[in-house]
Amino acid sequence: MHFDIFTLFPAMFAGPLDDSIVMRAREAGIISLALHNIRDYAEGKHAITDDYPYGGGGGMVMKPEPIFRAVESVLALAPRWADQPAAAPASQPIPIILLTPQGRRFDQSVALELADHPRIALICGRYEGVDERVRRHLCTDQISIGDFVLSGGELAAMLIVDAVTRLLPGALGAEQGAADDSHATGLLEYPHYTRPPDFRGWGAPEILLSGHHANVQRWRRQQALLRTAQRRPDMLETAWLTDADLAFLARLEQEPELAERYQAGL
Ligand SMILES: C[S@@+](CC[C@H](N)C(=O)[O-])C[C@H]1O[C@@H](n2cnc3c(N)ncnc32)[C@H](O)[C@@H]1O
Repeated sequence: MHFDIFTLFPAMFAGPLDDSIVMRAREAGIISLALHNIRDYAEGKHAITDDYPYGGGGGMVMKPEPIFRAVESVLALAPRWADQPAAAPASQPIPIILLTPQGRRFDQSVALELADHPRIALICGRYEGVDERVRRHLCTDQISIGDFVLSGGELAAMLIVDAVTRLLPGALGAEQGAADDSHATGLLEYPHYTRPPDFRGWGAPEILLSGHHANVQRWRRQQALLRTAQRRPDMLETAWLTDADLAFLARLEQEPELAERYQAGL
């Protein structure tokens, strides 16, 4: 999968995408990244990429011309003009995603949807944001990473690259898997323990040391259900639950001491 990232600050990407799972996925050819400096597509001696907002007010707005030019040139799109009919969505198969706090909320299902594309383009805004014509006439999608405002779209782009990459086949290595991750199953993930079995008097649950695979699986499922019921009960409304899950949740409600025992990891 290939990510084209359009930004005024490409240097910000050095580091977070140069290590660990994302870097290994890059080295293995599972993903590739191209950082495109929007300033390189600005005209004139000063390569200006922002200007004062029409109507006044504070801050600057990213100009449309360099962003259109950058995206059209990198994605080899014919420049569009207002008097041309809009292209059919199918004729632009590469999603052109504007990062904005006004977009649809990024979550695991959006990550899965993006992971299906061989190539996506991410546009990072700065200052007060981008000229509205970028959103209306260039972008095919708008994504927010949450109800808060960042100083720029770069951190949002890195977050999307990371979350999407871990979903791609081979990215996590053979021994790991994203299948049990929180949100992948519609539940929060169960707790993890590792060596030593006793740390300062706090033991790891016996069942995890038992080597009994079926019991471990049942314990993990029940812990995931308990966590989700306690921390994110809203998720249970849409999670896919078996009869055994529903019976366990009903027992938790009827027997509060059971929830306490399970919370202690027993
Ligand atoms: C300071 S913000 C502009 C916010 C804009 N004035 C508004 O209120 O909608 C600058 C840039 O950061 C990025 N950004 C900020 N918050 C974001 C979020 N929650 N998700 C994705 N991108 C975000 C966007 O690219 C945005 O253009």
